[in-house]
Amino acid sequence: MENAPRAFRPRDRAWHPAAWFPDYKTSVYRSPRLPLVSLTATRSELTAPVFGHDLIRASDNDLLVNGRVDGDPIGPRIVLFGKVLDEEGRPVRNVLIELWQANAAGRYRHVNDSYLAPLDPNFWGVGRTLSEPDGSYRFRTIRPGPYPWRNRVNDWRPAHIHISLWGASLCQRLVSQIYFEGDPLLPLCPIYNSIPDPAARARLLAKLDMGESLPHDTLAWRFDIVLRGPRQTFFENKREGA
Ligand SMILES: [Fe+2]
Repeated sequence: MENAPRAFRPRDRAWHPAAWFPDYKTSVYRSPRLPLVSLTATRSELTAPVFGHDLIRASDNDLLVNGRVDGDPIGPRIVLFGKVLDEEGRPVRNVLIELWQANAAGRYRHVNDSYLAPLDPNFWGVGRTLSEPDGSYRFRTIRPGPYPWRNRVNDWRPAHIHISLWGASLCQRLVSQIYFEGDPLLPLCPIYNSIPDPAARARLLAKLDMGESLPHDTLAWRFDIVLRGPRQTFFENKREGA
């Protein structure tokens, strides 16, 4: 039966990367030195925030438009779309999905980004939307460029889009990165490869979907987000089994 629950599977606590991963240099000083202390969640953490559709403007999920000043942003136009799903494949509605990304040249509109690539005056690189009743979401944006980062001598980040999901409370924020299937920089990226399980890495890849692409306009990339369970999307801030 299509909707029958799957058999119980114990969580695999081994697939989340170690907090200490020397190839990713900053993990060395960000990883804890002492045993973790468990804190009780406060009432505001458990009950807020509540996001409604009135919070979202029509253009908030359209990065081709929301930073426009006097022209279109430069770079390959794409649609990024998919569904937010629970562990049984059921849609999850009203999840606030926020994303932030570099422009086509690999530069963030951020004060701390000093990469010599140019800023795009018509591109902010940030967007948000709420998942629909069927769990679906959709953004229009520019495919981000790769950028170098100070790690080992010559490390470059593959093209990626940072993503954050808010559930029903502040404690339920989930953070991850979406990559693009076929990117030749993926095997070289220590952040991507800090995830030991190849199947978990593969679940971070957006897949080209020509059926959703618009002729002479945009290519489309599908990325479904699974919140928990054996097919869970890898989240940077939620250890499997936690
Ligand atoms: Fe990034």
